[in-house]
Amino acid sequence: MNDDTELLSLTGVVVRIAGLVAVDDVSFSVRRGEILSLIGPNGAGKTTTFNVISGYMRPSAGRVRLFGEDIVGLSADRIARRGLVRSFQRTSVFAGCTVFENVLTALHLQGRTGVWGALTRTRRVRTEEAALRRQAGELLEGLSLTGRADELASSLSYGEQRLLGVGLALAARPRLLLLDEPAAGLNPSETSLFKDMVRRIRDSGITVLLVEHDMHMVMSVSDRIVVLNHGRLVASGAPAQIQQDPEVIRAYLGSGLRRAQA
Ligand SMILES: Nc1ncnc2c1ncn2[C@@H]1O[C@H](COP(=O)(O)OP(=O)(O)OP(=O)(O)O)[C@@H](O)[C@H]1O
Ligand SMILES: [Mg+2]
Repeated sequence: MNDDTELLSLTGVVVRIAGLVAVDDVSFSVRRGEILSLIGPNGAGKTTTFNVISGYMRPSAGRVRLFGEDIVGLSADRIARRGLVRSFQRTSVFAGCTVFENVLTALHLQGRTGVWGALTRTRRVRTEEAALRRQAGELLEGLSLTGRADELASSLSYGEQRLLGVGLALAARPRLLLLDEPAAGLNPSETSLFKDMVRRIRDSGITVLLVEHDMHMVMSVSDRIVVLNHGRLVASGAPAQIQQDPEVIRAYLGSGLRRAQA
């Protein structure tokens, strides 16, 4: 690694989908401990970039390095095991389970106990189970969902389901967490809860790469911002810089950015 604060780096990444260039020669890096937001208008290539980083899509060209190692060609599962975990643009919780069971199941998927251990229920398994239940409780507390723990996930509001979705990603104990539009469809009070949560995640030592359309949220939580437009990187820098970048304003932000500054 050229710089040991660099967790993830993309170099010259290109993604062609059905004759269209969805990501066009994009290079940027994510530093340890920061919240980096990837923004841009609909169709700019943000989700495609996430797909490449998390191993759901192979780039047509370019390099992706995680903790200094090339990860192009690794499966999503192997990349997740290296500490890069993503939440999806759409909600994905187990609707038929309670909120607590959702988190517990996600924690179990990370647990060390194999099937045999679980069947024989040794003392070590019981101790581990108790530890996981405690962790599930802590996770729900961090998401302000303790009061809903015993309700079915399907009975949660849309915003609460999104929060729970992030909780499931956190259960995988990421070192780098990718969030794709976590605040989409949330009401203002849920959005503000989310903002605090993203900061707390960062403060707990997890680096965050965020895709989000809510400019208030982006400008207030991000340490740095990368702007894509038509698949190309058009600007990168601190929020104050991005808000004043004439190319960014012209390219797409316009009135949305001015509202965020107001
Ligand atoms: N599976 C696919 N098949 C065909 N075209 C695709 C596919 N996935 C993405 N694209 C195209 O690639 C481009 C980038 O899409 P992408 O979903 O990455 O944008 P985005 O920045 O995430 O947009 P949004 O803000 O709407 O989520 C778009 O032109 C899109 O239509
Ligand atoms: Mg998208």
